[in-house]
Amino acid sequence: MRFFLGLTALITIATACTIPSTPLSNNIASNFRVQVQNASYPQVHNKYMNLMVSGGGDRHLYVGGSPQVGDTTTNLRLINGSINWVSINAVIGGEESNVDDTVKMFMTERGDPRALFQPTYACNPDTDQLQVELRFVGKQNAPTGGWICVRPSFDNSHEFRYYPPGNTKSDPNRFCIKVTLVAVPT
Ligand SMILES: *[C@@H]1O[C@H](CO)[C@@H](O)[C@H](O)[C@H]1NC(C)=O
Ligand SMILES: *[C@@H]1O[C@H](CO)[C@@H](O)[C@H](O)[C@H]1NC(C)=O
Repeated sequence: MRFFLGLTALITIATACTIPSTPLSNNIASNFRVQVQNASYPQVHNKYMNLMVSGGGDRHLYVGGSPQVGDTTTNLRLINGSINWVSINAVIGGEESNVDDTVKMFMTERGDPRALFQPTYACNPDTDQLQVELRFVGKQNAPTGGWICVRPSFDNSHEFRYYPPGNTKSDPNRFCIKVTLVAVPT
């Protein structure tokens, strides 16, 4: 029995994906999609971030929906830690919620504080394949930390929100699910 347990542990180690030792820069100069992961929440797990046209050239960000909310977007880039699409960038601002103290993340060309990310190698929790996660660093010009979460929105979609560092609140009616964001090359 002891032997078999030991063997299982060995096999587990042997199949874990290999993390390259070279750290990634905070620029990704080739196209990617953003995949959302949280295996505890099948309604969002492994689905992609889509961009919905909004006023003034802005795009609002959604995952899922029936029918899908927002346009499939395969040409995102990362510039200095900022998720970029054509001439707009992911920022944090607006639609602040008093119930859980979260704030909207959306894309604009205006100068709102950006959402900053650090690409980091990790093993996919389902497939064990190497993946590049966009680890959330923080909101520009604000204390570092916090995370990105997604909360229920219209047509069974979820919208992207910023959960600030030190926050403990949650909205029982629109629970904001903490998610891992992954840059999937296209
Ligand atoms: C990225 O950051 C570098 C160093 O701070 C700066 O020189 C460069 O202009 C920035 N690039 C963009 C596109 O903001
Ligand atoms: C999934 O969401 C829950 C609730 O927000 C969170 O506690 C947990 O850390 C998340 N899991 C991952 C892997 O992000």
